[in-house]
Amino acid sequence: MTDASSTPAIPVTIHRSDYLAPDWSIPDIALDFALGIDATKVGAALSVVRQADAPVPLLLRGDGLTPAAVRVDGEVWNDWRMDGSDLIVDLGERTAATVEVDTVIDPASNTQLSGLYASGGLLCTQCEAEGFRRITFHPDRPDVLSRYKVRMQGDKAAFPILLSNGNCVDQGEAGSDHWALWEDPWPKPSYLFALVAGDLVVNKDSFTTMSGREVELGIWVRGGDQDRTGHAMQALKDSMAWDERVYGREYDLDLFNIVAVSDFNMGAMENKGLNIFNTRYILADPDTATDVDYDGVEGVVAHEYFHNWSGNRVTCRDWFQLSLKEGFTVFRDQNFSADMGSPPVKRIEDVRLLRAAQFPEDAGPLAHPIRPDSFQEISNFYTATIYNKGAEIIRMMATMVGPDRFRKGTDLYFDRHDGEAATCEDFVRAIEEGAGIDLAQFRRWYEQAGTPRLKLSLAEEGGHWSLDIVQTVPPTPGQPEKQPMMMPLRLAAFAMDGSGDALADTLVTVTGATQRIALGTFAARPALSVNRGFSAPIIVDFERGPGELAWLAAHDDDPFARYEALQQLMLDTLVAAVSGKTGDNQAVIDAVDQTLAGAASDPAFVAEAVLLPSEAFIGDQMVTVDPDAIRRERLALQAAIGAVLETKWRAILAGSAPPATDLSSTAKGGRRLRGVALAYLAATGADDAPTLAFGIFSDADGMTERQAALATLAHGDSDERVAALDIFYQRYRDNPLVLDKWFQVQAWSMRADTVDAVKALAQHPDFTLANPNRVRSLYGALTGNQAAFHQADGAGYKLIADLVIALDPKNPQTAAKMIPPLGRWKRFDEGRQALMKAELERILAQPGLSRDVTEQASKSLLG
Ligand code: BES
Ligand code: ZN
Repeated sequence: MTDASSTPAIPVTIHRSDYLAPDWSIPDIALDFALGIDATKVGAALSVVRQADAPVPLLLRGDGLTPAAVRVDGEVWNDWRMDGSDLIVDLGERTAATVEVDTVIDPASNTQLSGLYASGGLLCTQCEAEGFRRITFHPDRPDVLSRYKVRMQGDKAAFPILLSNGNCVDQGEAGSDHWALWEDPWPKPSYLFALVAGDLVVNKDSFTTMSGREVELGIWVRGGDQDRTGHAMQALKDSMAWDERVYGREYDLDLFNIVAVSDFNMGAMENKGLNIFNTRYILADPDTATDVDYDGVEGVVAHEYFHNWSGNRVTCRDWFQLSLKEGFTVFRDQNFSADMGSPPVKRIEDVRLLRAAQFPEDAGPLAHPIRPDSFQEISNFYTATIYNKGAEIIRMMATMVGPDRFRKGTDLYFDRHDGEAATCEDFVRAIEEGAGIDLAQFRRWYEQAGTPRLKLSLAEEGGHWSLDIVQTVPPTPGQPEKQPMMMPLRLAAFAMDGSGDALADTLVTVTGATQRIALGTFAARPALSVNRGFSAPIIVDFERGPGELAWLAAHDDDPFARYEALQQLMLDTLVAAVSGKTGDNQAVIDAVDQTLAGAASDPAFVAEAVLLPSEAFIGDQMVTVDPDAIRRERLALQAAIGAVLETKWRAILAGSAPPATDLSSTAKGGRRLRGVALAYLAATGADDAPTLAFGIFSDADGMTERQAALATLAHGDSDERVAALDIFYQRYRDNPLVLDKWFQVQAWSMRADTVDAVKALAQHPDFTLANPNRVRSLYGALTGNQAAFHQADGAGYKLIADLVIALDPKNPQTAAKMIPPLGRWKRFDEGRQALMKAELERILAQPGLSRDVTEQASKSLLG
């Protein structure tokens, strides 16, 4: 079904520099909902107060709404007009008024999943960024903060549970209906409004805050799912305690509710006191969720909870400031997860994600600063740059000033801006003043896009060694010239002969385009450990031989740097092989062998360290990406490592897996290492590999082992593969989140027929475009499968373009997210370039395209 109310594509560019404070404030809002799946009546009463000095009409944004009635101070009002989809109410000379507008909306036909929509009989809302205007007319900008009173009424049988923000202050019955009145005492922007009505069961718990207040916690899910909410509840309580301990921030309502829904465009949403989650970030039990899923639940629950301060109590002045709440909150959830598990492993995972998702964005046609200057559709700016690079920018400030001074800065920020809609500049100024640091040059990180590169070389004069740095920031769309950035660079230097000379961990601040750093006296060229802990989100160019990298991989005292050294060694070997140079695998094999010696004491770290770089990351190192050669050479190296160290992999697999219920870092690491071992063994083509994998698949006591074995089998061509896929499907066909995995492992497969398989799976009775998780599990997985997506005949590109065209009329936000992989055309050979551009042009030629897809496809085509 198509959604008739979708916004037509009028490519209007909105500029940050055009910001004007609102003409009217809205201190109070009363909303009245008469709930129905395909007709919900919404009565809105806005108390408005003029802020402008002179009379000015009240602009209320709408999207797909028609006003059924307009009243001002209780009187029927005719002084209004529509301007496109917006409502303009002329209030004459008034400086204050109560403006009432009635509308009727149809949640059942809202396939965009923005505004009020139906998800399997449930009514729920998603208002960020601009969904509130699909519920009722409103300025719908984050700098208009109001106290909300929400009354909702509906059929008791259809909607036994009625939830909104804040506290339930009254409820009652009216025939077959019932109603509830909710009040949120904290002024909030419209994007944090939420309402849920439907048949839900609850897992209840409580938390006592540091000042001794009792908070009731509730996680609401479909009947039957309540036994899978324990991990989310624990994560919530841990997050509440962590924010008190680390940031001194306490929760501020008597109630904190979370609702899990199946149809959701994003991961989760931080609505005040009523978070709404994609089920995949709430539901977890050992039989259906992997360790990665468990960590996802913990991290996302924390993220949304942390927004209560970084986002809700202090919100954003406008959407250009999005990284103010998202970058900071990602930084907070990263540190929380690090504290809950292994900090080095968490850092490795976060850096891997940054390199996989953000670096390519920063190097492509959609590159933008963490505080963009302009956009057409804000939904397109929930990007890895805003989130993950944004988090790195906050991390650099914290690194430069240290934890105690950083805390002084954030205290000042929260206290100074509590209850306000703030800017990124407000944040930087608070850190500057609170922590006592000059961030004048550092502010360029908010202005300049592109990943800085540091070219490093060592120089020696009379036994004194120094490091020479040349910094460049590449040109990006609209920004041809760049200034050097300020960044913290952690480094150390070691004498490889063990002579005892060393430069211990040092933090230097890089500011110049060129800079020299003294390292000290060494008898011979020292091994340099640089950008330790990934202290700055940059690319380091530094010529180092395999001997030096292998030495660092074995001896560096910073675990992240050990990981980096081994990855660099693998990368150098793979890039050489792909470029046709006869590779020498021995250094890599020896280093992996060495690293495996630590498997018993720190399996989680070892599992990360011995993993080969992804095909995409190898491609990122090349002038022109050759997806087929990359796959071939990566598989060859994997097979070589697999074969030479075969007894070690077999030994790891011969041991027993930790019980699936054990979620300690060590247990998770043990399972991860077993998955890696199985992949290495399978790569050798050993005859018994499918049997072994099938055995692990069958005996697994949890989803981590089961999925790892299934994914390994899915790459191959064995009878075991067919059997395992069938068993898995039959067992989990009624569990949507697990069925997503079934689609995903097939789309991830390294088989030559994967594109055809995806095409066939899109016709499977369990496939649907209506559920974003399902779409991502099939098509998102395909775009992450470099060799398949970039199949030379363009069949992968065509499949994605067909999807975008089919999905756009239903769900433009999710459709637009599938476009960036097609925008990477510049990185490929001419044949692939032409095919990719042709698909982008085909998308753009569709009539009635959404603003979301229009912006992404047209910018991607420009290159
Ligand atoms: N505020 C966002 C969710 C959101 C973004 C809803 C855009 C609608 C439009 C939320 O806080 C968020 O960032 N969620 C992330 C997960 C998080 C752990 C990075 C998400 O949904 O992917
Ligand atoms: Zn967020």
